[in-house]
Amino acid sequence: MNLRPLAPNLGAEISGVRLADDVSDEAFRAIYDAWLRYQVLLFPPQALPPDRQVTFARKFGELQVHVMSQYHADGHPELYRLSNLDESGNPNGRHPDKGTLAWHTDGSWRRVTGQATVIYGEVVAESGGETHFCDMYGAYERLDAAWKERIASMRAVHNLDFSRTRRHGEEPMTEEQRREAPPVDHPIVRTHPETRRKCLYLGDHAEYVLGMPYAQGRALIDELNALAIHPDLTYEHRWKPGELIVWDNRCLMHRATPYDPSTQRRVVRRCTVLGEVPT
Ligand SMILES: [Fe+2]
Repeated sequence: MNLRPLAPNLGAEISGVRLADDVSDEAFRAIYDAWLRYQVLLFPPQALPPDRQVTFARKFGELQVHVMSQYHADGHPELYRLSNLDESGNPNGRHPDKGTLAWHTDGSWRRVTGQATVIYGEVVAESGGETHFCDMYGAYERLDAAWKERIASMRAVHNLDFSRTRRHGEEPMTEEQRREAPPVDHPIVRTHPETRRKCLYLGDHAEYVLGMPYAQGRALIDELNALAIHPDLTYEHRWKPGELIVWDNRCLMHRATPYDPSTQRRVVRRCTVLGEVPT
């Protein structure tokens, strides 16, 4: 197993692992330690059938079954496929989830939030469709003392219905999906449960601040989300087909860059591993 850092602050490529085989506990321990240290792990191109992706992702923890069941893939409710292809494999002109274009952290709209996201590139766009990551430990550490004090005990309400429907004009959630995903509040500064480091925890699903007038909380969230992104805390990944990336949602934000869904093909499948209630 070999590690190659991808950017000064975060990200490493890990080679010498065949993910479709059974990964031993010892090898997994090394992968997991590297993942905690680098936040984003990239595995070079390899064949990985959907069921083997689910098996590998399960080693990180319990997998989320997404409430948006229209995305379930290959008979695996734990796999969520984002594709812009029609039945004949041609681009259908529609972006499958515009919400991914804004900086966010997966599953922050749940009480038990996303821990790892395990994503495999089946078909990658020739231009656009990159995934960018930004380090939220670094984002917190860069805030000045006044900011840190101001937000130390603030909680933000995260709401999937807000980010999907109101911001991105996606098809509305059904009543049942809304009931399954009610708004939840989380600390704006959370402590990573394993590294014990503090990080900023907001992103696109964060709607307003508890105990603050709505508009003021919205403005504060927008300001902090913008402050959080620094070029030197960021790793920008251009995909090759067959790559797998695992990232830590507890200390990162990520986004996808736009691509032309009427000319480009892009298919990725992902599992989200459930973490814990943020504290
Ligand atoms: Fe995401």
